[in-house]
Amino acid sequence: MTGRALPPGASIRSLGHAGYEIAHAGVRLLVDPWFHPAFLASWFPFPDNRPLLDDVASAAYDVLYVSHTHEDHFDASTLELLDHDTTTVVVPRFRSKALVRRFTELGFREVIALGHRERHEVAEGFALTMLLDTSHKEDSGLLVELDGFRFLDLNDCNTPLSELPADVDVLSAQYSGAMWYPNCYAYPDEVQRRKTAEVRGDLFDTLVRKVRLTGASTYLPAAGPPCFLDPELERFNNHAETIFPLWDDLARDFAAACPGVDALCLEPGDALTADGVTPSDDPDRGRWRDDPDAYLAAYRARRADEWAAYHEEPYEPVTAGELHAYFRQLTDWNRRFLADYERDVRLVADGASWGIRLGRVGGVLEADPIDAGYTIQVPPRALRAIVDRRIGWEEALLSLRLSLHRDPDTFDLTLMSLLRYGNQPVQTTHMLRERAEAASGATVERDGHTFQRFCPHAGEDLAHAEIADGVLECPRHHWTWDLRTGACLSGGTVPLRVGPATAAPSEWHTAEGNAGLR
Ligand code: FES
Repeated sequence: MTGRALPPGASIRSLGHAGYEIAHAGVRLLVDPWFHPAFLASWFPFPDNRPLLDDVASAAYDVLYVSHTHEDHFDASTLELLDHDTTTVVVPRFRSKALVRRFTELGFREVIALGHRERHEVAEGFALTMLLDTSHKEDSGLLVELDGFRFLDLNDCNTPLSELPADVDVLSAQYSGAMWYPNCYAYPDEVQRRKTAEVRGDLFDTLVRKVRLTGASTYLPAAGPPCFLDPELERFNNHAETIFPLWDDLARDFAAACPGVDALCLEPGDALTADGVTPSDDPDRGRWRDDPDAYLAAYRARRADEWAAYHEEPYEPVTAGELHAYFRQLTDWNRRFLADYERDVRLVADGASWGIRLGRVGGVLEADPIDAGYTIQVPPRALRAIVDRRIGWEEALLSLRLSLHRDPDTFDLTLMSLLRYGNQPVQTTHMLRERAEAASGATVERDGHTFQRFCPHAGEDLAHAEIADGVLECPRHHWTWDLRTGACLSGGTVPLRVGPATAAPSEWHTAEGNAGLR
């Protein structure tokens, strides 16, 4: 490990995935502990970290930090095992109160919600600073300061790059995918390969930027990939052809892109201390490298009860009436967001097929043969869970059990936002606010162009975006725009405001013309 060493006695112990246990100055901090299957029993931690669960359940933690509500970070089965009376929970202050509410429901007595860049001193020499994804997305990272040593845990959070702290010693951030695109889309193999390669390239590029901007001298690959133990999902374990590469696949490119930065791939149970890495004493530590297929087969057998539970749970097929009520409610909650929007979607579940017209007044058009440009195939069990509001579309999509098809192959931000965030209308309302601000807010002047400063997709600061031949590329999700016209060239459908500010909101529902990357 290069750069500053941890203070004597301090340790950062990996618990697998995005989980850490951090000890210093008599304080123990637990971060994003994930041990149980997530997203309809599809994701499992990789490598298997279950041997650490007893340790975590029996330990006394002073502080618990959970970055967001995704089940690979908010693992309710693990959180139930902790001491709810003595553990102080620190969470991001999101617009929706969902995270605070869930901790309160679990019985935690003290929950502290911190806003963006808000600092909380846990003890002398042990301070936490919250970093939010300041867009409509609800995710967070945490800067942990241990007597001057700075550990930045970004997990899979996208705080605007311009707001990342500098002078970081150790950065923990995602390098592997944690989304469904493009693997959930029913693309021909060749298209799937190309789009997968693009996403992997984008993830890597974003990681390199984060490392450079934070000045980290040590990088801990984290927050993925998961593995998929249900045989039905086996294809997603192919780390060469999915958005879920292993660190070994990227290590060489990283060394070339970030010379001088130590990448330490910690196994669950490994700890970073002032003396370097102390390996876990688990006799199976690192076994997955010997024979990955055999490792996964044994892991699958050990967890058979857990992934099989998804298939065994009894369920009632969803009726057209229930679907109608569900979408009516969803569209009612998001009337302003949908404004003049209208979209037909075909929903297919277990042989049944429904045409759904989404707009300000949404409903199921059971009898009408509609020509939908968007088809969602959803397993009937997953649809039951969605309609009963046990999970949202976000979690269902992340399970990779759904299959999507669209024609034309164009990203529809309104549709996907309605499905992903519509159950928390405070998020879609914030998207409207972002649009209005984007239309009249700050601009940047560069290379003879004037354009809006914050990305119309999810608010990234475009002040330092790359511009080549009049085309601007957002550093976060890599959408591109023609700076002469503002037209979105790839990634989405939302135009960029070019030229001076106006008072009117941009026409973000109606813009056309892109290659559709999401
Ligand atoms: S924030 Fe997503 S493309 Fe800019």
